Amino acid sequence: MNDAILKQAAALAGTPCYIFDTGVLKDRLSYLRSRLPEGTQLAYAIKANAFLVREIFPYVDRLEICSPGEHAICRHLGLDSSKYVMSGVYKTPEIIRAQIAEGPADEIYTVESETQYRLLSDCAHETGKPLKLLLRLTSGNQFGMTRETIAGILPEALADPLLHVNGIQYFSGTQKTQIKRLKREIEELDAYLDELRDTFGYTAEELEYGPGLPVSYFEGDNFDEEAHLAAFSELLSGMRFDGLLTLELGRAIAASCGTYLTRVVDQKEWDGQKMAIVDGGIHQLTYYGQFMAMKHPKVHLLTPHAGAPAQEWTIYGSLCTVNDILVKRLPLEGLAPGDILAFENTGAYCVTEGISLFLSRDLPAVVIVREDGSLLCVREDTPADPLNTPHYPE
Ligand SMILES: Cc1ncc(COP(=O)(O)O)c(C=O)c1O
Repeated sequence: MNDAILKQAAALAGTPCYIFDTGVLKDRLSYLRSRLPEGTQLAYAIKANAFLVREIFPYVDRLEICSPGEHAICRHLGLDSSKYVMSGVYKTPEIIRAQIAEGPADEIYTVESETQYRLLSDCAHETGKPLKLLLRLTSGNQFGMTRETIAGILPEALADPLLHVNGIQYFSGTQKTQIKRLKREIEELDAYLDELRDTFGYTAEELEYGPGLPVSYFEGDNFDEEAHLAAFSELLSGMRFDGLLTLELGRAIAASCGTYLTRVVDQKEWDGQKMAIVDGGIHQLTYYGQFMAMKHPKVHLLTPHAGAPAQEWTIYGSLCTVNDILVKRLPLEGLAPGDILAFENTGAYCVTEGISLFLSRDLPAVVIVREDGSLLCVREDTPADPLNTPHYPE
């Protein structure tokens, strides 16, 4: 995203704000598709950034929806539910009933436990609407089911005329840089799908897999994405499984299209240390792998002070916590109140995962850059105090 657009966005929406560039997003999706085996489907995990969902919708095969709120967002935007995969560790009976009643037949639900399986089955029978299921295999945490649990419900699910078991869903973590780990996972999944065929005579039609493709966030990261995707694709192409493969991705799709702008509002100097306070903070900026601002994310000044001597600045947010440090010892050629810092690669998890209600500061505005370069503010700067104010009866 060029700085002229970022400056326009700051003028339109004020700071702090998020800017998401749909052109970058579209190019990113084309790039990922070009590097993955032909026929691989892409599912966008909305949790990464719900503000992108309408822009992304035409370019992905599925939306992975993990909460009633995410479901409501997709419905408010009028997005066709035939692309939804209703995922998430806990779906309430009320939510499932309402979703099944409202939605078309044949929606896809992940099954996270035996209890959730019974609930889905009961809802299908109450409404008479058939459901498609993806049985979520656990990767050893609280999500999904063990092989034994799946073995316990599979025969019953296969015999149920209203349930169709599409296949298996598997997600084992994010920001996974080691191809060795992906290799092990893919081999295990392949062997497991063979085992289901040999034991139950069940051939999975599809595998929905979250490989946690990583993003380079910090200066000096030497992760080679091109090589990683080539090796990963080779592993996928080598699978014995020949059904439909869908990759559930969040950060690898969304991170690169986002920039977070925050303005310097104050500065101080102690013991030769230069400190700048900005109007944003760590509640709005989440870089996976960042710890006490030890690493330098990709950040630049929108209006550099040309010719000023380079000095190291530590950038602090406006929260009342000593942890609110955005970058330590950032070399800059001058910095002054009013200057705007642009943090790059902030399209995934910043707007959704930050502890944005902490200290009741406003939620930042969100600006979308459309493909023709025009700007659209899709969320105004939003006060948080109404959400954090206790309400008493009169
Ligand atoms: C089930 C599931 N699928 C996909 C994702 C997306 O992961 P990533 O952003 O690493 O691609 C997540 C993230 O938590 C997830 O929980």
